[in-house]
Amino acid sequence: SERTFVMVKPDGVQRGLIGEIVSRFEDRGLKLVGGKFMQIDEELAHEHYGEHEGKPFFDGLVDFITSGPVFAMVWEGQDATRQVRRMMGETDPADSAPGTIRGDFGLDLGRNVIHGSDHADEGANEREIDLFFDDAELVDWDQIDAEWLYE
Ligand code: GTP
Ligand code: MG
Repeated sequence: SERTFVMVKPDGVQRGLIGEIVSRFEDRGLKLVGGKFMQIDEELAHEHYGEHEGKPFFDGLVDFITSGPVFAMVWEGQDATRQVRRMMGETDPADSAPGTIRGDFGLDLGRNVIHGSDHADEGANEREIDLFFDDAELVDWDQIDAEWLYE
């Protein structure tokens, strides 16, 4: 099974969506192995969004992601990175199907509620987990319903 990094962005926190978003991943059967309510500083923002440095929206993106607290998480499960991205919807909430997180809770590209590691970017999940969490902050535990979730 696989671990992936997920984060409720400042807009999602301000709008009271942490619980709703955590519930969706729990309901799906994914296992929470790390969670941290925190504020991202300028340096972490630049590292996290380094791939977008130089793009016209980069400064706005850094301002936004550092503008208030976020809820960072690590979720584990079969095909977790791809399944989380599917549950999130498209980058632009306007293109996201109803039933997805961005399709249910967002309207605007620059305020899209949630981040998840890019499935297409090999190793992004491990890289982002390392950036946000120490090993000691990740908990190994057995989900009692695992035998009912997996064949
Ligand atoms: P993240 O989970 O936040 O990484 O989103 P993503 O992987 O779906 O999209 P991507 O990594 O390509 O872009 C990172 C973030 O930058 C997006 O979530 C958007 O909020 C923002 N963004 C991307 N493209 C644009 C753009 O063309 N204009 C603006 N204003 N913001 C953008
Ligand atoms: Mg991305």
